[in-house]
Amino acid sequence: MKRLADKVTLITGAGRGIGAAIAFAFAREGAAVVLAELDFETAQQTAEQIKTQTGARVLAVQTDVTQSASVQHAVSEAEQAFGAVDVLVNNAGINVFCDPLTMTDDDWRRCFAVDLDGVWNGCRAVLPGMVERGAGSIVNIASTHAFKIIPGCFPYPVAKHGVIGLTRALGIEYAPRNVRVNAIAPGYIETQLTHDWWNEQADPAAAKQATLALQPMKRIGRPEEVAMTAVFLASDEAPFINATCITVDGGRSAVYHD
Ligand SMILES: NC(=O)c1ccc[n+]([C@@H]2O[C@H](COP(=O)([O-])OP(=O)(O)OC[C@H]3O[C@@H](n4cnc5c(N)ncnc54)[C@H](O)[C@@H]3O)[C@@H](O)[C@H]2O)c1
Repeated sequence: MKRLADKVTLITGAGRGIGAAIAFAFAREGAAVVLAELDFETAQQTAEQIKTQTGARVLAVQTDVTQSASVQHAVSEAEQAFGAVDVLVNNAGINVFCDPLTMTDDDWRRCFAVDLDGVWNGCRAVLPGMVERGAGSIVNIASTHAFKIIPGCFPYPVAKHGVIGLTRALGIEYAPRNVRVNAIAPGYIETQLTHDWWNEQADPAAAKQATLALQPMKRIGRPEEVAMTAVFLASDEAPFINATCITVDGGRSAVYHD
């Protein structure tokens, strides 16, 4: 028996990176997956690859998580195609790394619109159905920035702290209805987002080396390593895990000093 057999799962930002790895992993475990993604072309390409490689039921829906109506539409499409949504993975996120006092109002707003409002919009769209059915699992992709601060990376960590708060609040609110809400805090994971950040530095190769040197395992993580944790949290192997966060960072956040 596959670990997520027939679970209808909606994953935001699933066209590439961690979201795509989660979609692949869920499909391999028997889930029907809906890729709710801003970049529809990428989502369609990823959906095709998943279908070909796993034979799973897959749907790509153009979605902007900053707009609650757009997320609601994605949930309706998922329901129509596969039935009620059993699992939601709120993965879509963007890096907004600024100096607090030179940051524009627009930087603040676009960070919170995607990284926190986006997570709430997802939760609000699926919770009524989950609460009514008395079953459901939500996995929010936070970050080690949700409890660690790097100067000059504002306000991303503020929004990610909020994701943990939202996870805990909703996890407690709906626990009596058997709806679990958990988070994953990835450390450095090798995706386009991470490469973009290195490429913005004066010496990208040196920036990458500096990042690797900071890691206890002398490597950064792979998207699949976050995906495995999402599969576990969403599955029936984690029935008593609720309102908490699992860190996937190779131990980096346990280090006090370099
Ligand atoms: N890569 C890392 O090192 C790392 C570490 C910690 C946390 N995270 C978090 O993991 C998540 C995924 O990161 P990633 O590295 O895979 O990023 P990524 O940029 O490779 O992928 C993010 C995806 O989200 C989509 N997206 C962006 N805005 C959207 C919107 N408004 N609506 C719908 N989709 C949208 C993008 O089109 C993209 O496909 C994010 O929440 C990020 O904050 C990443």
